[in-house]
Amino acid sequence: MNTRSPLRIAILGSGKGSNAQAILDAISEGRLNARVVCVLSDVADAFILERARRQGIPAEFISAAPFKTKLEGEGEQRYLDALNRYGAEVVALAGFMRIIKPGLLAAFPNRIINIHPALLPAFPGMESWKQALDYGARVAGCTVHFVDAGTDTGPILLQKVVPVLDSDTAATLHARIQEQEHVAFPEALQLLAEGLVRIEGRRVRLTQ
Ligand code: GRF
Repeated sequence: MNTRSPLRIAILGSGKGSNAQAILDAISEGRLNARVVCVLSDVADAFILERARRQGIPAEFISAAPFKTKLEGEGEQRYLDALNRYGAEVVALAGFMRIIKPGLLAAFPNRIINIHPALLPAFPGMESWKQALDYGARVAGCTVHFVDAGTDTGPILLQKVVPVLDSDTAATLHARIQEQEHVAFPEALQLLAEGLVRIEGRRVRLTQ
C-alpha cells in the first residue's frame, strides 16, 4: 500500500493543455499519486486554463510581462508567489513557452520538469518534430527532463521512442509523439511521487 501523501504538482502551460489533461486523467485513474494544486498560464485565453477550471482545479492567468520569451523579474516573482500560495512541491512545465530563469530554479531545485517533443539532446528548441522529419531521422519521440539554466539541457528522467514513417507529415509525426508524451509525463511524475529519483551529475537514477 502506498503511504506517501500525494505529490503536490503545479502545472504551467501556454497552450491547449493536452499534457495537463493526461496528468489529471492519470491521477483520477489511480496511476499517479498526486494532486494538481494549480494550473498557471502566461496566456490569458489558453485552453489549458479552461480545462482546469472545468475539472475544479484552481487556474490562473499570471502575466509574465514585460518579457516575451522568458520568466524573470516581477513576472517571475508573481509565479513564485502563486506556487508558494498553492504549496507546490513540483512544477511541471506542460507547453510553457518561456525560458525559466535562476530565481525559479533556485526556489525549486531539481523540482521543475519539462516535456520536450524530441529525443534530446537531438532537436532542442522549437518544432522539434519538424526538425526530426526534415533531418531524416528514422525515430523520434519525447523526453521528460529536469529543467536547468539551459534550453532543453537538464538531466533526462524518461524518454519514449516512436518510428518516423515514410508517409509522415509534420502533423502526423507530431500527433504520434504527443500520444507518447501523454504516457511519459504521468509516468515521470509518478517516479517523483514514489521518491525513486536521484540525480547524479547528468544521470538520473531510480532507486529505493
Ligand atoms: C507539447 O508538444 C510539449 O512537448 C511541448 O509543448 C506541447 C504542449 O502541448 N513542450 P499541450 O499544451 O500539452 O497540448
